[in-house]
Amino acid sequence: MKVKKSSKSRSSWITSCFKIQEPISMIEPETVKKKVEPEPIKSPNSNNKRISYTDLNNSSLAEGISISIPGSNLYVFTLAELKVITQAFSSSNFLGEGGFGPVHKGFIDDKLRPGLKAQPVAVKVLNIEGGQGHKEWLTEVVFLGQLRHSHLVKLIGYCYEDEHRLLVYEYMARGSLENQLFRRFSVSLPWSTRMKIAQQAAKGLAFLHELENPVIYRDFKASNILLDSDYTAKLSDFGLAKDGPEGDDTHVSTRVMGTHGYAAPEYLMTGHLTAASDVYSFGVVLVELLTGRKSMDKTRSKWEQNLAEWARPQLKGGARKLSRIMDPRLEDQYSETGAEKAAELAYQCLSHRPKARPTMSMIVKALEPLTEYNEMAVGTFVYTAPTENKKSPVESPEKEVSTEGKSDSNGHQSHHNHHRRRQHERRHRSKSPAVHSETDLHRDYKIDFSRVTEN
Ligand SMILES: Nc1ncnc2c1ncn2[C@@H]1O[C@H](COP(=O)(O)OP(=O)(O)OP(=O)(O)O)[C@@H](O)[C@H]1O
Ligand SMILES: [Mg+2]
Repeated sequence: MKVKKSSKSRSSWITSCFKIQEPISMIEPETVKKKVEPEPIKSPNSNNKRISYTDLNNSSLAEGISISIPGSNLYVFTLAELKVITQAFSSSNFLGEGGFGPVHKGFIDDKLRPGLKAQPVAVKVLNIEGGQGHKEWLTEVVFLGQLRHSHLVKLIGYCYEDEHRLLVYEYMARGSLENQLFRRFSVSLPWSTRMKIAQQAAKGLAFLHELENPVIYRDFKASNILLDSDYTAKLSDFGLAKDGPEGDDTHVSTRVMGTHGYAAPEYLMTGHLTAASDVYSFGVVLVELLTGRKSMDKTRSKWEQNLAEWARPQLKGGARKLSRIMDPRLEDQYSETGAEKAAELAYQCLSHRPKARPTMSMIVKALEPLTEYNEMAVGTFVYTAPTENKKSPVESPEKEVSTEGKSDSNGHQSHHNHHRRRQHERRHRSKSPAVHSETDLHRDYKIDFSRVTEN
């Protein structure tokens, strides 16, 4: 098996000599329709025919995929239009570049297409030299063209002209989680924002896994989680997505593809793909959020390069051990209890036994209290109010939330507030009767998924 290095080129895909990848078949249109938002353009083809990658022959491509895919509401753009939108792909509009090709910001005005509102967009240009390029482009169009969910990035349209292949997405103002977490000069993401991002990304994956014809995403990683201006997380890049196993099949056999450091060990070993492979990758991202370390870091000593392998034994070592691997950029401003719960969850996702991993919907539920933890901890803060009638020294939790839980316009909590919160967590862990929620968290330290009901 060949494992290639950079995560920013097609050569990053881990390729093995397993079965050649089967043609990519499509999502059942009916299934998708159930969850779609209202769309501006109705597809003329509204029958219930199941669409597959192989159904899309060249003539239907030339006519426009949106006409060929039932339920798809994609706009077909010309290259000339996209040049205008992006100011000729000017360097000032450059957003970044991955293995697919460069991404540029653009702006669509309301005169371009009837029904298409004025909005900023991100235009991804296929680097024509990439070998897998066209197939990934088409897979993206076919999957994202039919799937709509609040935690999947919205594909607005595409361009298919001569050898040119472009994709037009909603613009995500804060770029990728990878940039936010690891870029040296970015502001550190606060704890509560990290947990919200984790949960929202988990919701995106849970949606895919729970479709009537489930989809395995296969490329879950920090660079594929994009963040809106308010840090809402959405999954992008469906170029490697696969339909899940059908009938009695337990897995899909594929050529091994993905990004080193995120791919599940059993998938790397066998090429057998299941939803549990996505769960493993989710566990890796959760550890990235906890530690601020990259899934694979060749600059570190040998035993620290693979984050999942290095971190897993330490995730169950209790608060003190965990504190040694927590992201120093958090500057101790996180909930210890929440971190222990998140670490336990990551530990289970990273299990080497795929069946022992939780499902994504269990993960969504398990993360729920962690996203609220900030408010819960703040709510338990004992504050002696200077009251005239001297009734009670304990203010209501609601009042505390409104003062302590304040964020700046970027959703970042002030250092001061975090510091106070940490102090209070420590101080009131055993004292205040109001901290019952935190005590519960401690008692339930081992996440018991049998108690988490599925949707
Ligand atoms: N919809 C979008 N809105 C805003 N920025 C985007 C959008 N899509 C991509 N980007 C930016 O473009 C960069 C490149 O994204 P792309 O998905 O092509 O590559 P990648 O995920 O970084 O790498 P890989 O090829 O390994 O997936 C991202 O880092 C992100 O900052
Ligand atoms: Mg990407």
